[in-house]
Amino acid sequence: MSNPKLLLITGSLREGSFNRMLVREAARMFGPADVTEADLNLPLYNGDVETSEGVPEKAKTLAAQVAEADALIVGSPEYNKGITGVLKNALDWASRVDMPAFKGKPTVLLSASAGRTGGETALFMAQHCLSQFQVRFILGQGVMVAAASNHFDENGSLTTDTYRELLQTRMDELRAELG
Ligand SMILES: Cc1cc2nc3c(=O)[nH]c(=O)nc-3n(C[C@H](O)[C@H](O)[C@H](O)COP(=O)(O)O)c2cc1C
Repeated sequence: MSNPKLLLITGSLREGSFNRMLVREAARMFGPADVTEADLNLPLYNGDVETSEGVPEKAKTLAAQVAEADALIVGSPEYNKGITGVLKNALDWASRVDMPAFKGKPTVLLSASAGRTGGETALFMAQHCLSQFQVRFILGQGVMVAAASNHFDENGSLTTDTYRELLQTRMDELRAELG
């Protein structure tokens, strides 16, 4: 597939998010692609709001971006041993718009965190939640960047060879999957 559409989904709203750096690095390593970054800055899901006002435009945009994407690359921070409310909230809204859009979508999960485990627990929680959406995970040795501030330079590039190699392997697998 030439120039596949990649949707980058980062579970952090932070300007300097290491997970955003990680998904961007992943996209660079993937090679030629049409890359879109999802905006997860959505209102909190509220069933009353959905009933009275409908789904917010930004949630519809997210679902449409998922539908159009050839693959998803998700960067999940770890907050208190789980995924962030930001990521969960976005998945909840998207599920109310177009859950089937996720079905069979090749998906790579990545994480970066301050802690020693690199956000492993959150990564598994993200996998658990996304199983419900029936995405097709590109699994392998996990890319979980521990003590993340030590592994990115001021331009947001991943500097540590072991993580770079793991990420490149996963991106090569994703490209092979897309054909
Ligand atoms: C509310 C909160 C909870 C956190 N809990 C964890 C945790 O359980 N494990 C961990 O490794 N880091 C934890 N951290 C630190 C994050 O890993 C760190 O802030 C990381 O940079 C967040 O990802 P981001 O850079 O993409 O925003 C927590 C941070 C916050 C703000």
